[in-house]
Amino acid sequence: MHEAEVTARANANVALVKYWGKRDARLNLPATGSLSLTLDELGVEASVAFGVTDADVFEVDGEPARGETARRLADFVDLVRADMAPRPPVRVRTRAFMPLGAGLASSAAVFAALALATTRAAGRRLDPPALSALARRGSGSAARSIFGGFVEWHLGRRPDGTDSIAEPLAGSGDWDLRMVVAIVSTAPKAVSSRDGMRHAATSPFYPAWVAGADADLAEARTAIAARDLDALGRVSEHSALKMHAVGLGARPPLLYWQGATVDCVQRVWRLRAEGVPAYVTIDAGPQVKVLCEATSSAAVAAALAEVGGVQRVLTCGPGEGARIVT
Ligand code: PMV
Repeated sequence: MHEAEVTARANANVALVKYWGKRDARLNLPATGSLSLTLDELGVEASVAFGVTDADVFEVDGEPARGETARRLADFVDLVRADMAPRPPVRVRTRAFMPLGAGLASSAAVFAALALATTRAAGRRLDPPALSALARRGSGSAARSIFGGFVEWHLGRRPDGTDSIAEPLAGSGDWDLRMVVAIVSTAPKAVSSRDGMRHAATSPFYPAWVAGADADLAEARTAIAARDLDALGRVSEHSALKMHAVGLGARPPLLYWQGATVDCVQRVWRLRAEGVPAYVTIDAGPQVKVLCEATSSAAVAAALAEVGGVQRVLTCGPGEGARIVT
């Protein structure tokens, strides 16, 4: 039996040791492990109901989903619906609680919320590791948004991906850091992370990127256990800058940065020289995300707001994992 409609909420996460490259594109199995911080503020609610409409309905922020977005939502629901006979029509509605058009990727939060809402609506209760493996199929980084706080997504060894799941390392209340986000552009990204990752293999730096991941993960894990911001920040910057160096070496080159991205990085490095522990990370877009203590987040946000080309600055804290709302 399935329930009427289930709504689940999940938050975005920002990787401190990045996921950039797959060993299996269909199953979204990564080439390396990765490690992230789930954020508060940047959330998504997904509502799923089976059998309440005559045909499938996919709605994103009140508008019918189109093209690639609709296809990804349908493919994801089919992973759960494959076991249901007769195959019921589904209604999926997602709503983002984040500044729209802020150039921040919501797919991790969308697929983590959907993994929980879809399985519950289908009358199934999956444990968090199984939800993580399911969310991964929608978007790799969604595997991590099932959990709050600091999270590691394991590479896994099995070909079916059942062990490529995330695991919490420290809860959202365990270490009061901040992620200050400088929004440099709100334009839709030119190259999706999916395409960027596929293209990474053309870079001579890609094998070195893959080879270095285990050491970066070990360093990050140790830093989190010791609550050592400087150690965590140093390895986070190293991982992010290596990921972007892979793109610079690709053919043709791939560069997600804009001028203001570089200006933000240099501003943060100056802040650090002045004694403020703050470290940058950058994903598949031009925004700069800065990891710092709660007590220095106002100073970091003020410094970034003054950088030319920065449109807006958001400050996020550690957030919770995916949960049922209704
Ligand atoms: O999960 P995807 O396909 O949106 O890829 C995420 C890629 C990065 O955000 C750049 C890195 C990461 O680990 O989240």
